[in-house]
Amino acid sequence: MIDITEQPAVAGFIRMCEDGWLQGWHERNGGNLTYRMTEEDVAAARPAFASEPGAWHEMGVTCDNLAGEYFITTGSGKFFRNVALAPEKNIGIVEINDAGSAWRIVWGLAGGAVPTSEFPTHFMNHSVRKRVTGGANRVIYHCHATNVIALTYVLPLTDRDFTRPLWQSATECPVVFPEGVGVVPWMVPGGVDIARATSEKMETYQAAVWAQHGLFASGSDFDTTFGLAHTIEKSAEIYVKVLSCGQGVRQTITDDNLRAIARDFGVTLNEAFLG
Ligand code: 13P
Ligand code: ZN
Repeated sequence: MIDITEQPAVAGFIRMCEDGWLQGWHERNGGNLTYRMTEEDVAAARPAFASEPGAWHEMGVTCDNLAGEYFITTGSGKFFRNVALAPEKNIGIVEINDAGSAWRIVWGLAGGAVPTSEFPTHFMNHSVRKRVTGGANRVIYHCHATNVIALTYVLPLTDRDFTRPLWQSATECPVVFPEGVGVVPWMVPGGVDIARATSEKMETYQAAVWAQHGLFASGSDFDTTFGLAHTIEKSAEIYVKVLSCGQGVRQTITDDNLRAIARDFGVTLNEAFLG
């Protein structure tokens, strides 16, 4: 029997859970992570799959372009800090049915665990990001990034009112997320409504803020997805510190500065947030 935790996809997944925990973004069972496996990932992991897969579970959402895919997912109610200690109990692999509407467990989530309660949001985000990136996107990450959450108490909840201060609070932000970030108003988590609202933002953005809750980030691999969340949260932290000085903003990166960065780094900024 292979050690599935040594397969690169599973090992990378576990490492990202550990990294998020070390950042302080995953109190208790907070946050969740999913990864859309490649055919090679599935072939390497298949020897560890259960001889009898679990039952199919309908998700309440259907995404044709994810039919037959396999995802690694964190478990609902599971703690990121425990993932590396006991992967089989805290994460698992699910297969999606031919209709793109249901999952079943083929490995892990031992002891009756199920995929994250945010699986509908992850699933719909994967569908959108897979389509708009021509299949490149494979990772969706939800974390309770402290400073991003704090800003949702003081900034207007619009894409523009979040994107501008995030771009202005760390010089390389416009290069990392030139399209900006989306903002989803407060909604009950874990359901289909918040999944739809978030996936609409993911048509345009790589990341979406959930008011009074956290952040969703997407990417082609674990490094870029974690790096995106880290960059957004770091910028939010700087802006929170600036506001906390209590003197307002004396000087910042101007729109012309932002355009100059975009020009030299070869990215196209979302003009809707300039001027
Ligand atoms: P899960 O434990 O079901 O993943 O939920 C955690 C969370 O952050 C919900 O938004
Ligand atoms: Zn959450």
